Amino acid sequence: MPRKVYIHTFGCQMNESDSARMLESLVRDGWVGTDATAEADLILVNTCAIRDKAEQKLYSALGRYRSAKRARGTLLGVAGCVAQQEKGRLLARAPYVDFVLGPDNLAALPELVRAAASGKPSRVETAWMDSDSYAFPRADAEQARGRITAFVTAMKGCDNVCSFCVVPHTRGRETSRPYPDVVAEVRDLVGVGVREVTLIGQNVNSFAGGCDFPALLRRVGEVPGLRRLRFTTSHPHDFGAGLIRCFAELPVLCPHLHLPVQSGSDTVLARMRRDYTADAYEAAVAALHAATPHVALTSDVIVGFPGETEADFEATLRLVERVRYDNLYSFVYSSRPHTAARLHEEAWGVVPYEVQVERLERLQALQRSISRERMAAAVGTDVEVLVEGASRTDPDRLCGHTPQNRMVNFSGSAMPGALVSVRIDRASPVSLSGREIGLVEAAAPPAASSHVRLPVVA
Ligand code: SAH
Ligand code: SF4
Ligand code: F3S
Repeated sequence: MPRKVYIHTFGCQMNESDSARMLESLVRDGWVGTDATAEADLILVNTCAIRDKAEQKLYSALGRYRSAKRARGTLLGVAGCVAQQEKGRLLARAPYVDFVLGPDNLAALPELVRAAASGKPSRVETAWMDSDSYAFPRADAEQARGRITAFVTAMKGCDNVCSFCVVPHTRGRETSRPYPDVVAEVRDLVGVGVREVTLIGQNVNSFAGGCDFPALLRRVGEVPGLRRLRFTTSHPHDFGAGLIRCFAELPVLCPHLHLPVQSGSDTVLARMRRDYTADAYEAAVAALHAATPHVALTSDVIVGFPGETEADFEATLRLVERVRYDNLYSFVYSSRPHTAARLHEEAWGVVPYEVQVERLERLQALQRSISRERMAAAVGTDVEVLVEGASRTDPDRLCGHTPQNRMVNFSGSAMPGALVSVRIDRASPVSLSGREIGLVEAAAPPAASSHVRLPVVA
């Protein structure tokens, strides 16, 4: 019987991608994945430290998994950003954890698991790799066979100094992957049937792996068979004319951009150390709209940042009204270890929690009405959808996304991987609903068995 691993992933696309690489390396070591904790021989929690709530989720999950360990001797590992932030302190708080693994140390996973399985003492692997010696783990294309969409890592870490953010402390210095490796991984994935690739990195548009980010998009865009290209997350700092031209000139690049603004007040933006003004942000958005009229934007906003006044917050509301995002991810400010904002909280003025929550609710109500209007505008139109599989809400229907990244549930008969035209008859603030009215392009035929497996850094 192969041993089974359950991976519980919190956080962003970087963590999702790291979880996929960890699973692949364990599968090569004889494990199989499971989605039932009760039958797992190893539980791996891949953690996020971005807000205090995210960190608390680790400790409540560990409490649950500890009983599995008591009952069945399940091995327990903690990976990701809390692992990197807490290192050995995590073992002091939860001594039953078998290993702590930082994001730079994924290659050590199979060995750590073998050591834990043979009863060796708990270990902590959280050393930083310097940019020259770091080898980006590569997707195992054979294991991706049958997938329609995939994340491909372009860079890791972050050299920005946003005063609220823990990521530079958990993911280290910005390091770009050499562009030929990015292109080769995309080619491999497309070779096994993947049709849509999202290039990922905390600050992906600062890519510098032998070419700049617009040049990387153009190179990846040339991979034959790739139908859709996306990227996330971008910082307004590096959002320039070269990138805007890519949206206008590359048909494969989807008209969707996630461009976090964080606040509409210049005073708050300066305290956040975001190095742009609200006007500069809106000018970049206007230039993008001029080049790509149908582009859909999404963003992140923090409310209740230290010192945020009612007038600052209203500036955020006005900006959101003007930009008209498809969707907005908004959060209450959370004080994080090692950040500059934490040091200045008292001086700038802590915003009481009730005020933070009240502002968050107002912002979310405004965004809901904008989302509702934007999605309703699609009713009666035909949209192109990449079929991803059965709908989660109704297994008799299909599900996929438009180029603008709007989720569509629809009735139809196309195979996963096909591009279809869907007539929209209903909309909610978060998804569209309709019926398939035609095939744009059939799903890719099963990939040829001559596919060459390139060496994998595990
Ligand atoms: N690299 C991305 C953001 C990564 S974190 C960027 O620069 O845009 C994702 C989002 O979490 C951020 O955009 C921010 O809105 C939110 N976030 C980060 N730190 C936070 C904190 N301390 N409190 C509340 N929200 C935070
Ligand atoms: Fe954090 Fe700022 Fe880097 Fe984004 S750009 S990861 S918010 S420090
Ligand atoms: Fe969270 Fe780490 Fe991503 S802190 S948002 S998992 S980079």
